[in-house]
Amino acid sequence: MKFVPERKMGELCVPDDCEYIEYVRDILENEQFCSMKNFIQHGETTCLTHSINVSYLSYLFCKAHHLNAKAAARGGLLHDLFLYNGHNYRRQKGERMHGFEHPRKALKNAESLFLLDDIERNIILRHMWPLTITPPKYKEALSVIYYDKYCSILEALYLPVIELMNVQRVHSI
Ligand SMILES: [Fe+2]
Ligand SMILES: [Fe+2]
Repeated sequence: MKFVPERKMGELCVPDDCEYIEYVRDILENEQFCSMKNFIQHGETTCLTHSINVSYLSYLFCKAHHLNAKAAARGGLLHDLFLYNGHNYRRQKGERMHGFEHPRKALKNAESLFLLDDIERNIILRHMWPLTITPPKYKEALSVIYYDKYCSILEALYLPVIELMNVQRVHSI
């Protein structure tokens, strides 16, 4: 396969799931999206791996509950596409401001790269709820909100979300 989301030191884990990959292949092959491998999100997990974790768990949940799994997969991948070092930003403006501001930045970047539907836009814009006051409109967005927090906690504790899933394969770049 052409795309390889990253793991540490040039290795990337992607779900071993053809349906999921078909839904998100164009995103995983996008150079700017993959530049998230250069930014640490939590613990030693990069923004890129965090986004894949959130995306795939949300996709599995939405598929199991007959929701829009494709929108959950795509919105989950793009929810943190703010494309800068969040730790520098937090030092300068504070954690709370980053929490408030990065969903709009991620949405702007995502819209400049991909055609989004209303569910995907809502997932990205509302993923920090309830910190950001306005609640999400869709169950798919609630799923991403939940798995974003779930993955963030595991990643901050240096627990490997991908290995816990036990459904992925590692590709070499
Ligand atoms: Fe976020
Ligand atoms: Fe996130």
